Amino acid sequence: MTPPLRAPESRDGEHELSNEAEVGQALKESGFPREELWFTSKLWNTFHALEDIEPALDETLSSLQTDYLDLYLIHWPIAFKKGTSALDEAFTANPYPTWQKLEEPVEKGKIRNIGISNGERAVPPPHTPAHAPLPPPFPSLFCRIENLTANPLKVQPAVNQVELNFWNPQLELLAWSAAHGLRLEAHSPLGSSRQVKDTLAVPAVQAIAKQLGITPAQAIISWHVQRGTIVLPKSVTPSRVVENFQVHALPDDLFEQLEKAAAAHPPQRVVNPSKNWGLDFNVFDDYP
Ligand code: A2P
Repeated sequence: MTPPLRAPESRDGEHELSNEAEVGQALKESGFPREELWFTSKLWNTFHALEDIEPALDETLSSLQTDYLDLYLIHWPIAFKKGTSALDEAFTANPYPTWQKLEEPVEKGKIRNIGISNGERAVPPPHTPAHAPLPPPFPSLFCRIENLTANPLKVQPAVNQVELNFWNPQLELLAWSAAHGLRLEAHSPLGSSRQVKDTLAVPAVQAIAKQLGITPAQAIISWHVQRGTIVLPKSVTPSRVVENFQVHALPDDLFEQLEKAAAAHPPQRVVNPSKNWGLDFNVFDDYP
């Protein structure tokens, strides 16, 4: 298999993720002062060899035409062995060396915050040591935040960006993160291109939107904000980008209605990275 040296096509195959040069150029042309912008980027799976980490960051800085990032995330809780797409099991079990290497550019001022992405919690039975393999249905150590946070971190993770939407409301992770000072950032908050139509058609979403005179997408985005999460709705449609900025305070009873509706079905993951990458294992234990 050809090694994915840069980020592969996005999950829906519509757009390339490797758009940093274009984003950098557009932001430069926009004339916005740098301090009014927030730049987040991610360390891709193939750049976990210690000598590759800071050069990968430097390349991102150069493409974005900036000398610092506001946030840099470890893209996945898995890595590929250098130059291949084979799983690097050492990183999976122990992401701490990568994290320590990322603490250095924080000290140098190249990154203001570091965080993780797709860090999840396969909820272990009580009293399971942090690094112990979990019994079925969680046989692997993938995605366990504790694989990182059990270490003596100099810089605490600021953010964990995960799939979070009506179908996958991440109830346990949200409560755990709030208790541990970790902000959750919602990717695919509308259900991604795969399930956005279903999300916007949910009767509770429709009813709340109608009652408040807002759009269903605004009802969902407002629900996310009210849950205390950072929301990243994606749209290539200018009018929707404008629409999605308009957040509304949902009255408590309507917020609770949405919260209950989201919890009323078994959580279902919308995005399956293993399939997109052609891997022969499941990154998430619970993906069928
Ligand atoms: P498009 O990019 O064609 O505007 P997510 O943010 O969960 O990944 O979802 C992205 C999908 O949701 C895209 O297909 C996007 O379509 C669509 N989308 C984004 N904002 C809206 C909106 N306000 N109303 C309807 N669909 C939306």
